[in-house]
Amino acid sequence: MEFFDVVRARRSIRKYERGEPVRAEDLRLILEAMRLAPSAKNLQPWHVIVVRDQERKKALARAAHNQRFVADADVVLVCLSDPGVSPKWHDKDAMIALEHAALAATALGCGCCWIGAFDPEAVKRILKAPEELVAVAMMVIGVPGESPPPRPRKRLEELASSEEFGRPLDI
Ligand SMILES: Cc1cc2nc3c(=O)[nH]c(=O)nc-3n(C[C@H](O)[C@H](O)[C@H](O)COP(=O)(O)O)c2cc1C
Repeated sequence: MEFFDVVRARRSIRKYERGEPVRAEDLRLILEAMRLAPSAKNLQPWHVIVVRDQERKKALARAAHNQRFVADADVVLVCLSDPGVSPKWHDKDAMIALEHAALAATALGCGCCWIGAFDPEAVKRILKAPEELVAVAMMVIGVPGESPPPRPRKRLEELASSEEFGRPLDI
């Protein structure tokens, strides 16, 4: 898919074909897209855990305030960051890598959804993650079971200015 087609096609998918796996080569490409993401000083201060075990996914769904679709998707990527490596940018770098995963998943025809609403300490316990790491966000990925229309966005003029804050966009 061409880049802007991917950006336009991506949606938060909250319904998945249960039991339908993401192909191994697609999952590898999604993780490769994360690996190639930029990070401050190229420190790459994050680690991603690929969760496919059904019981563990159910535990993550419970930790995500019972967002049950989390357990229906084939894969849950959980991105942890290390403030000890990059005190200022660790979590932002993890988010950048996860959005690479979202766009790669979309380009490959997978559905995906960001999960930011969860208890980070519970997630770390479920994954046996080291104490010093931060559970930043999760991304569920699977075979889509819905095809929602695009969600509304603000107009560009509300989001962008030319030269100074609030000066109308002039491009
Ligand atoms: C940082 C972040 C956290 C999010 N957390 C959740 C979440 O916990 N559960 C959920 O269903 N959607 C979550 N979303 C998805 C947003 O609700 C969604 O992106 C937004 O409503 C726009 O819809 P769209 O992604 O289909 O364009 C999150 C998105 C982002 C970027």
